[in-house]
Amino acid sequence: MPMFNYPFRSKLPEVPTSIFAVMSALANQHNAINLSQGFPNFNSDPKLIALVNKAMVSGHNQYAPMPGIFSLREAIAKKMENLYGVSYNPETEITITAGATQAIFTVLAATIKKNDEVLIFKPAYDCYEPTIELFGGKTIAVQLDPEDFTINWAAVKALITDKTKMIIINTPHNPSGNVLSREDMLQLEALLKDTNILLLSDEVYEHIIFDGEKHQTAALYPALAERAFITASFGKTFHNTGWKTGYCMAPAEMMKEFRKVHQFNVFSVNHPIQVALAEYIKTPENYLELGPFYQKKRDLFLSCMKASRFEFKPSKGTYFQLMSFKNITDESDFDFAVRLTKEKKVASIPISVFNEQHYDTKVLRFCFAKTDESLRKAAEILCTI
Ligand SMILES: Cc1ncc(COP(=O)(O)O)c(C=O)c1O
Repeated sequence: MPMFNYPFRSKLPEVPTSIFAVMSALANQHNAINLSQGFPNFNSDPKLIALVNKAMVSGHNQYAPMPGIFSLREAIAKKMENLYGVSYNPETEITITAGATQAIFTVLAATIKKNDEVLIFKPAYDCYEPTIELFGGKTIAVQLDPEDFTINWAAVKALITDKTKMIIINTPHNPSGNVLSREDMLQLEALLKDTNILLLSDEVYEHIIFDGEKHQTAALYPALAERAFITASFGKTFHNTGWKTGYCMAPAEMMKEFRKVHQFNVFSVNHPIQVALAEYIKTPENYLELGPFYQKKRDLFLSCMKASRFEFKPSKGTYFQLMSFKNITDESDFDFAVRLTKEKKVASIPISVFNEQHYDTKVLRFCFAKTDESLRKAAEILCTI
């Protein structure tokens, strides 16, 4: 085939294929236990699958309303009211999205203009930065403490300028497994109070939080809630990342702008899945049991890893566990992760890829959203290294 000489400059010249795709492909190629990409290797509740089936059979197979079906938005509003005592109007303040990634993309598309500055905390989930760049924004990165992943709020304050348009936070945090405390949220609130700076609060792991910690949603803090787009993911909560459904909440004026982009971005989201979720989410145990469920998996994985040469502090939330290999090898985290996958058949994610200038702290991220058998097998191998 003759080569078409692509005549345009790339809009994202620095963006490689996502590390998740790279490591998962390598895991498949080498038949490794895949603790790299963040998805469960077990199924969603059969009751939820039956509800999707029922919704399809009963004819919910055409476009859903643009903001999502009302009963699902209403169920989300009730959940917010019951869990946090906060009120979101399902008519004007909640929109169902094709996963949190689309919600985040749409928030940034609707708000970021050329030369706007957006503060993010590194290590950071990988979709924020390229999306900011796509809309002409400039990412201002703040490195979290390399040991305990806390935020130095004085350093954040020093980076705020008249160009700062938004701050993005993520709690519970991927990849560190840390959570923001009430004190963090109060510091952020004090910082933003008398400014026009927007907040994007990525809360996809809201229900995966351990050891009695309470999730600090931005919705709980009035001076944050009034400027916050909050993004959430059903994929994380109900073990079906492949269904790509989630939602965004924001005050009505902000949601109006969000929907202007959403309607031309996806227009509307998978209809039968929304019908099923609207029913399933009415039972609070379906999401409230998620924390204890994953805490058991974390504890199993960590008890099996005790005999290894990896060093770790238990994850406080998410289904990720960081492990330091500084006592094992001087290799770069990327090289070590590749070697572990190829030679030992356990895949992980090197966390330098989430860091500013790919800063390598000799740490790998392992996903423990896996069957107990996979976790035991992986730990058994890792203990031989
Ligand atoms: C921090 C964070 N935000 C957003 C997402 C995207 O969620 P979704 O799969 O619903 O698009 C993920 C998925 O891994 C994530 O870890």
